[in-house]
Amino acid sequence: MFGVTGDLAQKKLLPAIYDLANRGLLPPGFSLVGFARRDWHDQDFAKLTYDAVRAHARTSFREEVWKQVQEGIRFVPGEFSDPGAFDHLARCVSELDADRGTSGNRAFYLSIPPHQFPVVIGQLERSGLAAQDGRGWRRVVIEKPFGHDLASARDLNDLLATVFPPYSVFRIDHYLGKETVQNLLALRFANELFEPIWNRGYVDHVQITMAEDIGIGGRAGYYDGIGAARDVIQNHLLQLLALTAMEEPVSFAADALRAEKQKALSAVQIPDDLAEGTARGQYAAGWQGGVPVPGFLAEAGIAADSTTETYAAIRLGVDTRRWAGVPFYLRTGKRLAARMTEIAVIFQRAPHLPFNATDARELGQNALVIRVQPDEGVTLRFGSKVPGSAMEVRDVNMDFAYGQSFTESSPEAYERLLLDVLIGDPPLFPGHEEVELSWKILDPIESFWAEAGRPDPYPAGSAGPASADALMARDGRAWRRL
Ligand code: BG6
Repeated sequence: MFGVTGDLAQKKLLPAIYDLANRGLLPPGFSLVGFARRDWHDQDFAKLTYDAVRAHARTSFREEVWKQVQEGIRFVPGEFSDPGAFDHLARCVSELDADRGTSGNRAFYLSIPPHQFPVVIGQLERSGLAAQDGRGWRRVVIEKPFGHDLASARDLNDLLATVFPPYSVFRIDHYLGKETVQNLLALRFANELFEPIWNRGYVDHVQITMAEDIGIGGRAGYYDGIGAARDVIQNHLLQLLALTAMEEPVSFAADALRAEKQKALSAVQIPDDLAEGTARGQYAAGWQGGVPVPGFLAEAGIAADSTTETYAAIRLGVDTRRWAGVPFYLRTGKRLAARMTEIAVIFQRAPHLPFNATDARELGQNALVIRVQPDEGVTLRFGSKVPGSAMEVRDVNMDFAYGQSFTESSPEAYERLLLDVLIGDPPLFPGHEEVELSWKILDPIESFWAEAGRPDPYPAGSAGPASADALMARDGRAWRRL
């Protein structure tokens, strides 16, 4: 693992390894090698891992499981540019093959800033670590951001292709590892109820929301210059759109699933008028959870004149027979009123209402809402008669909540994805075509924004900038409440 001292490793990756071990899903010889520019020994990295596990593991702590993990922990100190350090790494993993029976099977996890990908991938090749020499498998795991735009994503894909065959490259989009996101496939394709109405004949529009209540925390270095759209629309939200809009794949094998997502992404249309069909915001000081919080420009490490957006909303079309004319609205933001990710399919109004206008005035549009997080589940909203002598109708919700229907708790996305890397199961990893198609959608929007001046301010703790509400209002619609 490269990037072991980073935020992601400590909060997600190292705890996920422990959780997998605790669930009995790792082989006894599983070994974890950290590589970083620290003057450390194995025990220092073990200590870092231990602290991360105690602070962030999902499953309960068991001494015997920790001992098993700890026995396989090694650390190799060095600079990414130092060939000697990579030779040391190669010796270390060969020793593990001999001592712990890892059989030459290696997954290289790159949780590092993108500008370091070329040097690390080059070193993996030069040192022979990446060589597909028939003695076990060699896989590479790439964390986002997967490029900064279409051109840089292509460069990265080309670079990877010179060292690793396509089936050895695993691009992480952790939203695909979420239970509720996978459940979208079950909901659509295991049932007869939804698919017949999953089209322009019945659907008015789709809203995909990823709202966060947190700010940028200590990630100024990563986030400034990247912004909300590159951070999560290019990957998570467009993947959710693809899964919502795509046709039924012939199977859930990686090739079949990727082919359908690619078709959906290729059919995506950006608004003709980007000023009308997109909105951008940056959080200003405000209140969150009863405490005052600073604005984005006052966060440590952010330039006082930064034009990076912390909120983005985009109206997209999907030009297929199924979806022509149905807008897909995507929005995301930091420091919003609540943390909530959902896909809401909003249906058309009934063509005729045989009720008094006053009796039906509180009736909204039917909706099927896939609640990705928190409060995972699915809600169906429809009109119902209010008890009493009048024929008054009002919206009610029918609810499926994971907590009530299942006793099993959901694994963390990274548990599922790390395990899939180790067993070589790629369907939950986007292919390079999807990554490039997503940048193709985003690039013109980013260029437009780059010329458009400052993002609109919104107070921390609010629902986003007024310009995002105006985008919906122009279409005669409104965002769902956070
Ligand atoms: C990451 C983004 O991909 O997803 C972060 O880089 C964001 O900015 C995070 O906070 C959210 O993940 P989750 O699983 O908490 O919704």
